Amino acid sequence: MKALRYFGPRDIRYESMDDPAIQDDRDVIVKVDRCAICGSDLHIYHGEGFSEDLGFCVGHESVGEVVEVGRAVRRLKEGDKVMLSAAVGCGACASCLAGNVIHCENNAAGCYGLSSRLQGSQAEAVRVPAGEVNARIIPEGISLDQALMMTDALATSWFGCHNADIASGRTVAIVGLGPIGLMGIENAWVMGAARVFAIDPVPERRAIAESLGAEALHPDEAVAAIQEATRGRMVECVLEAVGHERTIDLALRLAGRRATVSVIGVNQDRRFEFPMARAFAAGLTFRIGTCSVPETWPELIPLVQSGRLKPERFISHHLPLSDGAMAYDLFDRREDGALKMVLTP
Ligand SMILES: NC(=O)c1ccc[n+]([C@@H]2O[C@H](COP(=O)([O-])OP(=O)(O)OC[C@H]3O[C@@H](n4cnc5c(N)ncnc54)[C@H](O)[C@@H]3O)[C@@H](O)[C@H]2O)c1
Ligand SMILES: [Zn+2]
Ligand SMILES: [Zn+2]
Repeated sequence: MKALRYFGPRDIRYESMDDPAIQDDRDVIVKVDRCAICGSDLHIYHGEGFSEDLGFCVGHESVGEVVEVGRAVRRLKEGDKVMLSAAVGCGACASCLAGNVIHCENNAAGCYGLSSRLQGSQAEAVRVPAGEVNARIIPEGISLDQALMMTDALATSWFGCHNADIASGRTVAIVGLGPIGLMGIENAWVMGAARVFAIDPVPERRAIAESLGAEALHPDEAVAAIQEATRGRMVECVLEAVGHERTIDLALRLAGRRATVSVIGVNQDRRFEFPMARAFAAGLTFRIGTCSVPETWPELIPLVQSGRLKPERFISHHLPLSDGAMAYDLFDRREDGALKMVLTP
């Protein structure tokens, strides 16, 4: 089959590789209908990935059709249209069965396309371990593009907003307006936020934030502007969706008394100087973590079905998978209105 493979920094190639095969009775093989590029794929693209491996297939956001099932699979069959959770677990322990695959009790938590261990899904086909738990039939009234956004980006954004304690009447700041941060604006309104500040250096992304009703700011002006707008109180909820030390630091500086700071931006084992005295004095709550995607689906599915959340509007490009290298480059340079890049094999 054809797939996007990682060969080093800024070197993604559309090449042949072995077709995925059933390895375990609970596996499912899915023919990919469409897949997307995530901000986490950019970390790999920059050479700040999750392993030293080369040649593996990248990508962890995809939807498609079941073409083969292992002998133990009962609830999925050939022809089913499914969405794949970016995060996977063993599918058998109590945590996984509750949708909390990240905290899999058998330590089988993982993600596609971070190394050769579990090949990615920016490909013509992908092997899904424990398919009955790690894949879900796309519910009625949800389009392929909407389902695709629910495989990681929307789920992570929703999880990050919950972690930020966003609730009725609260003032929110979102640092980083990639697809995940922008979706956070829509999520914040659904959760009852009264006011949302949205921060990013890219003017086009700030313009989208404004169109969603947020007050958009450049990072250099954010602290002073929010200080003035809130008469020094700052915000109650902060979502950090970039992953740099300086943006985590900015998120902490925007937090007012008893505020909650939620970090979902990925930052590979770097040290970070935490402002202990200020956090102590303000009584801050700090949360960080990775989203257990299936856990968010019971809330997100009805919100997308009813049109309260419209994640598909953050898709900027539909391209053939063969243009994958160009799609990575565009998304990386944040040019040409690039936001969510969707690829079709
Ligand atoms: N925790 C999880 O489960 C999880 C899952 C998926 C993605 N992520 C992470 O979420 C982050 C965002 O992903 P995305 O898909 O939206 O990617 P993205 O790369 O498009 O978004 C990052 C945004 O941050 C902005 N930015 C850069 N410097 C900034 C600064 N100084 N201040 C404010 N904004 C700045 C960029 O302009 C960009 O718009 C990535 O770090 C990704 O790895 C985490
Ligand atoms: Zn991702
Ligand atoms: Zn498990």
